[in-house]
Amino acid sequence: MTILTSQEIIELSKEYTFFSWSVQGQVNPIPVGKAKGIYFWDTDGKRYIDFSSQLMNTNIGHQHPKVVKAIQDQAAELCFVHPGNTTEVRALLGKKLAEVTPGNLKKAFLTLGGAEANENAIKMARFYTGRHKLLARYRSYHGATHGSIALTGDYRRLAVEPVMPGGVHFLDPFCYRCPFGQKKESCKRECIAHLEEVIKYEGPDKIAAIIMEGVVGSNGLIIPPDDYWPRVRELCDKYGILLISDEVMSGWGRTGKWFAVDNWSVTPDIITTAKGITSGYVPLGAVIVSDKIAQFFEDKYLYAGLTYNGHALSCAAALATIEVYEDDHLIENAVVVGKYLGERLESIKSRHISVGDVRYIGLFSAIELVVNRVTKESFAPSVMAEIGTVLRQNGLFTFIMANNMGSIIFVVPPLCITKEQLDEGLAIVEKALETSDGQVKH
Ligand SMILES: Cc1ncc(COP(=O)(O)O)c(C=O)c1O
Repeated sequence: MTILTSQEIIELSKEYTFFSWSVQGQVNPIPVGKAKGIYFWDTDGKRYIDFSSQLMNTNIGHQHPKVVKAIQDQAAELCFVHPGNTTEVRALLGKKLAEVTPGNLKKAFLTLGGAEANENAIKMARFYTGRHKLLARYRSYHGATHGSIALTGDYRRLAVEPVMPGGVHFLDPFCYRCPFGQKKESCKRECIAHLEEVIKYEGPDKIAAIIMEGVVGSNGLIIPPDDYWPRVRELCDKYGILLISDEVMSGWGRTGKWFAVDNWSVTPDIITTAKGITSGYVPLGAVIVSDKIAQFFEDKYLYAGLTYNGHALSCAAALATIEVYEDDHLIENAVVVGKYLGERLESIKSRHISVGDVRYIGLFSAIELVVNRVTKESFAPSVMAEIGTVLRQNGLFTFIMANNMGSIIFVVPPLCITKEQLDEGLAIVEKALETSDGQVKH
């Protein structure tokens, strides 16, 4: 039962709670009252299409009755036990994670989110290899805590430096803005040669792991060429370096496979994940390691711990969420509707002069806007803010990137979306593109 007005919810929230990644005086939150499937409503009843699955995590859609019931049932039975004890849901979830992750990935350390998962992956990789450096890409985000932000390549790290020592960054396989100045036709995978050079300069025997997002999310939806992941796997094997796939955003059906690396049949040594594991209904993250790494800790102390390691409510929610992916055929839907989304995005690009590039895999996609298709100059944040206003006024919520790394509208809806619902949302996106089309410079 709501007792506050919409305005009171906003005002009290702003006065007494901090909001992420923002100048506090400038935040403009939507007070959300209810949600179902791909939609949510504000407390005054205005409906929004959720085109970003909130923060790219509500993959199964909002308020799925099976997951809500699983949380309610678990809460009624047993909310919490000491992390050194265990529960039936923890046991079953551990086994299920080993089943859905690729190859010999076997044993999970359960956390509460993605940053914590990466923190613990860093520790485990360092303990296992006895090496201290970690290589990560510039266009990446791995979480806001001091170790995870040390891996993060983007502007969010710069603001909080100095961070954990040992993080080293390398350039990305970003074909639309190739850092090596290459074109698709003449590309010789300079990105791979570059990575090997960085490994040699940094000392292979000092490098514990290379961590990469399965498909880069918040840094612009960067899908690597098909041989990229396999070739990085080869480099890791050559130098005895562990390979970590950060599947916090790209996992759980988002790309049309359980995990993004499955698109290239690569088995990393460690997968870190969160978000879609429970679809955000309650917090959970996981570090899932290979059987070899798991075996290593059989007779060695694991210096890692969390009060909420293996939280019963989270485990119950994750089990039910994974069942929904399977029973509702959501990953299959991501493939079918994802193919349609790709066609629609290409058509949008052909009709809107401000669209420089569209990138998509499954239901993970982005529309990159440019002031000029030749120079590929990004739009000013003020233009992206105008676009955001049009989207919001017309009842569409999504993630927008508006900085010197690019001006991008993300299209990352829940995996239960239909083609008709997708069309409904894309029509609003096209309306907003009139704003950027009008500001193109030839
Ligand atoms: C690829 C990736 N890794 C890690 C994180 C951090 O996850 P969390 O916000 O749950 O700590 C995120 C969050 O967006 C992410 O996208």
